[in-house]
Amino acid sequence: MTWLWFLSRVFSIWLLLDSVPVHSLGFNWGTMATHPLPPNTIAQMLKENGYQKVKLFDADESTLSSLSGSSIEVMVAIPNNMLADMNDYNTAKQWVKTNVTRYNFNGGVNIKYVAVGNEPFLTSYNNSFTNITFPALQNIQNALNEAGVGNTIKATVPMNADVYYSPASNPVPSAGRFRDDISGQMTEIVQFLNQSNAPFTVNIYPFLSLYANPDFPLDFAFFDGTSNPTNDNGVSYTNVFDANFDTLVWALRKIGYGNLPIFVGEVGWPTDGDKNANVAYAQRFYNGLLKKLAANQGTPVRPGYLEVYLFGLIDEDAKSVAPGNFERHWGIFRYDGQSKFPMDLSGQGQNNLQVAAKNVQYMPQRWCVFNPSATDLSKLNDNMNYACTYSDCTALGYGSSCNSLDAHGNASYAFNMYFQVQNQQDLSCNFQGLAMVTTQNASQGTCDFIIQIASFSSSLTPSAIVLASILVPMLFVSW
Ligand SMILES: *[C@@H]1O[C@H](CO)[C@@H](O)[C@H](O)[C@H]1NC(C)=O
Ligand SMILES: *[C@@H]1O[C@H](CO)[C@@H](O)[C@H](O)[C@H]1NC(C)=O
Ligand SMILES: *[C@@H]1O[C@H](CO)[C@@H](O)[C@H](O)[C@H]1NC(C)=O
Ligand SMILES: *[C@@H]1O[C@H](CO)[C@@H](O)[C@H](O)[C@H]1NC(C)=O
Ligand SMILES: *[C@@H]1O[C@H](CO)[C@@H](O)[C@H](O)[C@H]1NC(C)=O
Ligand SMILES: *[C@@H]1O[C@H](CO)[C@@H](O)[C@H](O)[C@H]1NC(C)=O
Repeated sequence: MTWLWFLSRVFSIWLLLDSVPVHSLGFNWGTMATHPLPPNTIAQMLKENGYQKVKLFDADESTLSSLSGSSIEVMVAIPNNMLADMNDYNTAKQWVKTNVTRYNFNGGVNIKYVAVGNEPFLTSYNNSFTNITFPALQNIQNALNEAGVGNTIKATVPMNADVYYSPASNPVPSAGRFRDDISGQMTEIVQFLNQSNAPFTVNIYPFLSLYANPDFPLDFAFFDGTSNPTNDNGVSYTNVFDANFDTLVWALRKIGYGNLPIFVGEVGWPTDGDKNANVAYAQRFYNGLLKKLAANQGTPVRPGYLEVYLFGLIDEDAKSVAPGNFERHWGIFRYDGQSKFPMDLSGQGQNNLQVAAKNVQYMPQRWCVFNPSATDLSKLNDNMNYACTYSDCTALGYGSSCNSLDAHGNASYAFNMYFQVQNQQDLSCNFQGLAMVTTQNASQGTCDFIIQIASFSSSLTPSAIVLASILVPMLFVSW
C-alpha cells in the first residue's frame, strides 16, 4: 500500500516535472488585437501552463499589474517611437521610475530586462532610429543603475537578424559581419552590453527565410535534418536557425565580443495566411526547436544553454499585413486563448495541448453572412473590399484555411469578420442589402467563421487595423 502510494507519488511528480516547459523558454505577449483578452485572463493562463518568462512590447500598466505577485520573469519594452525621448536622461529616469522601479517590491513584478526599441535598425525604417538607439540604451541602463536595480535588471536592444550578414560570395556563418551602414553603432552597443553584463537580443525567423525565397530548401527551415547541409570549413549546418545564429556569433567575434550572451528575442512559425503557414509545419518547427533547447544543444559554435522567446503567445488580428498575410497568425494560442495544437514545450516527447484561457466571454452566437436572396450583386466586390479593409480577411488568401470558399462564401467570411470586429452591431451587417445575420454556425470545412470575444476595453479602434504600421522582419542573411 505505502509502497504503491510512494510509487504513484514519484510517478506523478515525475509527470508534473516532465511537462513543465524547458527552463530557457519565454513567450512574446503582443497586444495588437481588435479584441484583446483581459490581461488577467492571460496572466492566469501563463501561470497554469507553468510559463516562466514573458516579453512585452511596452510597459502597459494593466498588463504589468496582471503579473504582479507571480515569479514570471518579465521583459518590458520601450517602443521605437519613444527612443528619441529616451535620449534625454531625465526622461529616461522618469520612464524607469514609472515603469520599472514602481513594481520592484515584494509581491510586485519580476522585471528582469528592458527592451530598448524593437528592431530599430530594420532597413525598412530608413535609418530613422540609427543615431538615437545607443544613447537611449545607455540612458536606460544608467537610470537602472542609479535606481539601484542595475545589477538585476538589464537593458538590451532586440535586433532583427538583418543587422548582420554573410556576403553572397561566401554565404557561410564564419563570414558573418555586421551591416556596413550600422557597424559603428553596433560596435558601440555591443561594447556597452558587455560592459553592463547584458545580453544581445536577436529575432530569428526561419519561416521568413522560406517565405522570401522560393528556392529555399524546405527541410533547412526545420530541425530534422537536410539532404543538403551547408559546410562551413568542416562545420556542418543542417538548419537555418543554427546558421543564422552562428553568423551573429561570428560577427560578434570579429569585433572582439565572441562570448557575449545572446537571447533569441523572437522565433516561431505562423499557422495561417500562407502556403507554408499551417499547423503541421508549426508543430514540426516547435517540436524540433524545443527538443534542441531541452537538450541544451545550442548551435555548432555556441553549444549549451540558449534562451529563447517564442513568437508569439496569441494571434493579433490588428497587426499590419505589410510583411505578409501570415502576420496575424503567429500565436500558439488563437485570438480567444484556445490552444491551436498539441506541442512539446518540455522537449521530452510530451505532446500536450496547452491549458487554454479560462472564462472567456464571447459575444452571442450570431454570424453575418451573404444574403442569398440579394439580387443586385454589382456592388458585392466593393462591399467585400470594404469589410476586409477594416477586419482580418487574411485566411481567404492562397494556401490559407479559407481559400477554397466559393464567391458567396468569400463574401460571407468578409462580412462576418467585419461584423465581429464591430461588436456585432446590427448596422454593421447590412452591406447595401447584401448581408444578413444568422444564428447558424456559418463555418465551412477548414474555414472557421469566428465569434469574437466580448470587448473589455480595447485600446484599439477597428481603424487601427489599417493604420497599424508595426513592421516585422523581412530581411536577413542570404539564406
Ligand atoms: C511607461 O510606459 C508606458 C507604456 O509603454 C508609457 O505610455 C508611459 O509614457 C511610460 N511612463 C513614462 C513616465 O515614461
Ligand atoms: C523609407 O523610404 C521608402 C522609400 O523612400 C519609403 O517608401 C518608405 O515609406 C520609408 N519608410 C519609412 C518607415 O519611413
Ligand atoms: C547619424 O549621425 C552621423 C554622424 O553624426 C551622421 O553622419 C548621419 O547623417 C546621422 N544619420 C541620421 C539618419 O540622422
Ligand atoms: C567585457 O566586460 C568585462 C566585464 O565588464 C570585461 O572584463 C571585458 O574586458 C569586456 N570584454 C571586452 C572584449 O572588452
Ligand atoms: C475568394 O477570395 C480569394 C481571396 O481574395 C480569391 O483568391 C478567390 O479567387 C475568391 N474565390 C472566388 C470563387 O471568387
Ligand atoms: C462552428 O463550427 C465549427 C466547425 O464545426 C466549430 O469548429 C466551431 O467551434 C463552431 N463555432 C461556434 C462558435 O460554435
